[in-house]
Amino acid sequence: MKPVKVGICGLGTVGGGTFNVLQRNAEEIARRAGRAIEVTHIATRAPNPACDVGDSVQVCDDALALASNPDIDIIVELIGGYDMALKIVMEAIANGKHVVTANKALIAVHGNEIFAAAREKGVMVAYEASVAGGIPIIKALREGLAANRVQWVAGIINGTGNFILTEMRDKGRTFDDVLAEAQALGYAEADPTFDVEGIDAAHKLTILASIAFGIPLQFDKAYTEGITKLTTADVNYAEAFGYRIKHLGIARRTEQGVELRVHPTLIPEDRLLANVHGVMNAVMVNGDAVGSTLYYGAGAGAEPTASAVVADIIDVARAVSCDPDTRVPHLAFRSEALSDLPVLPVGEVETAYYLRLHAQDRPGVLARVASILSERGINIESIMQKDVEEQDGLVPIIILTHRVREQRMNDAIAAMEALDEVSSPLMRIRVEQLN
Ligand code: HSE
Repeated sequence: MKPVKVGICGLGTVGGGTFNVLQRNAEEIARRAGRAIEVTHIATRAPNPACDVGDSVQVCDDALALASNPDIDIIVELIGGYDMALKIVMEAIANGKHVVTANKALIAVHGNEIFAAAREKGVMVAYEASVAGGIPIIKALREGLAANRVQWVAGIINGTGNFILTEMRDKGRTFDDVLAEAQALGYAEADPTFDVEGIDAAHKLTILASIAFGIPLQFDKAYTEGITKLTTADVNYAEAFGYRIKHLGIARRTEQGVELRVHPTLIPEDRLLANVHGVMNAVMVNGDAVGSTLYYGAGAGAEPTASAVVADIIDVARAVSCDPDTRVPHLAFRSEALSDLPVLPVGEVETAYYLRLHAQDRPGVLARVASILSERGINIESIMQKDVEEQDGLVPIIILTHRVREQRMNDAIAAMEALDEVSSPLMRIRVEQLN
């Protein structure tokens, strides 16, 4: 069979890794795909010193030109970002080319439009590398778990954020110091606020939720909260209660709709997810037939991400000649069968809470706090007042609650913050048992 010709747009960390893996494992890959896979074109603004592209590959700096080049079968978009990447992908589809991308922002925000165009043209758009780097979580959810009604997905899906939380907890390093290292290692996004404010994780979670529940991509409805307000005190208090703080993406199906949220979360320290450290990612999927399953691995980096990109290229090379109607649908469910189950506003989400407030050490304060919670039907699970008077005469009080709807907790928090004896704002972190 004729080789499949690949054009790579972007020869940065992931592009370089993809090129190198395709070269190094060419023989084995051809045995798997049933035909050779050749990188014939690369578009890049700068050479990558980690790649020896040789003379047989045509190199240019115009990625859009690759998207319309009739000699290329598969466009691999590894530029990242929205505008240029969208142009390249849409141009490639318009020219009847299959697309492989690692671009989570692009799929989360423009995926519905991209997949509609791809269906029209009968081409594939594969995006395994867009979520959790080298972990084949899209494949697992879309195909391996296809028998299940998925109940929830919860994951550590941003390596940079997990690396920062781990180093801060284990080594007492500062936030900025760890972030600089993550950038130097090529893990962080071009704009690292995407990592620490949870936007990158929300992109990935949006994709996971769509293929888990068969709903259109709805990034604009995801609730996103970052890790920048977490303190060492919270990490230590959480540990005192037997919990660890992780930056989780959670998508849960409820009777009313889908919860879609990224935020710091206390999880029991004996859960496997609580023990995922450094730049590693892990995703738990709970299905009605299979129960809970866990997928763990490197969520970023040149070759781990290339592992997913190359697997997609192989999948596309195998399926090129199939009837488009028999291929695995882009969002796991057939496009005409996507559900209109709504994504819930965060006020409708139900979860347990960790609260840290600082109050004057006077008789009756704790009782007033407790009655604010009880008047709203919020059940306290544990409470701890630390006997450490702070500069301003306040003492920290830590409360763990049972599950409650978020809007009710917001109301209780506002009432507690309005007390003269309590300093505002108080700290709230959501708690999940993941069982
Ligand atoms: N910035 C991302 C992370 C890279 O840290 O996980 C992989 O998507």
